[in-house]
Amino acid sequence: METPKKAALLKRYRLKPHLPRHVAIIMDGNGRWAKKRHLPRIAGHRAGAFSIREIVRLSGELGLEALTLYAFSTENWKRPPREVALLMQLLKQYLRSEVPELLGNNVRLGTIGNTADLPPKIGKELKESIQATSHYTGLKLILPLSYSGRADLARAVKGIAAKVKAGKLKPSAVTEKTITQSLSTASLPEVDLLIRTSGEMRVSNFLLWELAYSEFHITPTLWPDFRTPHFIAALRDFQTRQRRFGGVESVTGSVTSWAR
Ligand code: IPE
Ligand code: IPE
Ligand code: MG
Repeated sequence: METPKKAALLKRYRLKPHLPRHVAIIMDGNGRWAKKRHLPRIAGHRAGAFSIREIVRLSGELGLEALTLYAFSTENWKRPPREVALLMQLLKQYLRSEVPELLGNNVRLGTIGNTADLPPKIGKELKESIQATSHYTGLKLILPLSYSGRADLARAVKGIAAKVKAGKLKPSAVTEKTITQSLSTASLPEVDLLIRTSGEMRVSNFLLWELAYSEFHITPTLWPDFRTPHFIAALRDFQTRQRRFGGVESVTGSVTSWAR
């Protein structure tokens, strides 16, 4: 829906009306941001929280349906215990300080990943925050926590196999849709745009199935420096893309398709 606020923002930022429905971001480069300033890595993570606040607010105002912010991967447990503990602490602080802001902006919080791995206190805080925002109807903000794309696929396959074994599903009836609907992202729209900050050219076990036809925008900007102008640049970049989905002509007329 085009609210007057959205229309004003589109005009101000010279954006076309068609925006991605779902943006996913690999928020990377916090450690390098801190290192450049001779600060401990956690200072970079702390600074990154300000970028999160700004990008969430803007995404809501622009009327995006979903924003998935890769916050902590399964592999991130391999980091030094002190950094992991500080990251968990920061997550708790983020939830405490941001939930009122999310409520004020009609944002609904969700999570994907193995959240049972989180320290119990953090898990509880997360559950409560999700509950507190569960009736909101604006932007869906998804925080992957202890997330692994491969693990999510393995979990989906296990569920499908169990249904087959129980005789509820024929092997021949397993389609792409069965898999899509068994993933933790089943309720979200297709990922139209993937952004990765800090210039790394890899997917790092994020949304492996879901990124099949996403547009990629990789920027050298480090996550704590990634603010409104960078997000707008990514959206503008998206709006120049011709999405062919394997065909020969760009598909027009749908929200997720583009023609110049
Ligand atoms: C991203 O920044 C934040 C998390 C993965 C939690 P990094 O901590 O990976 O920062 P770099 O890549 O070391 O600069
Ligand atoms: C990806 O960043 C994970 C998150 C942003 C949460 P990493 O910094 O962990 O990824 P690699 O190690 O560079 O692949
Ligand atoms: Mg990194």
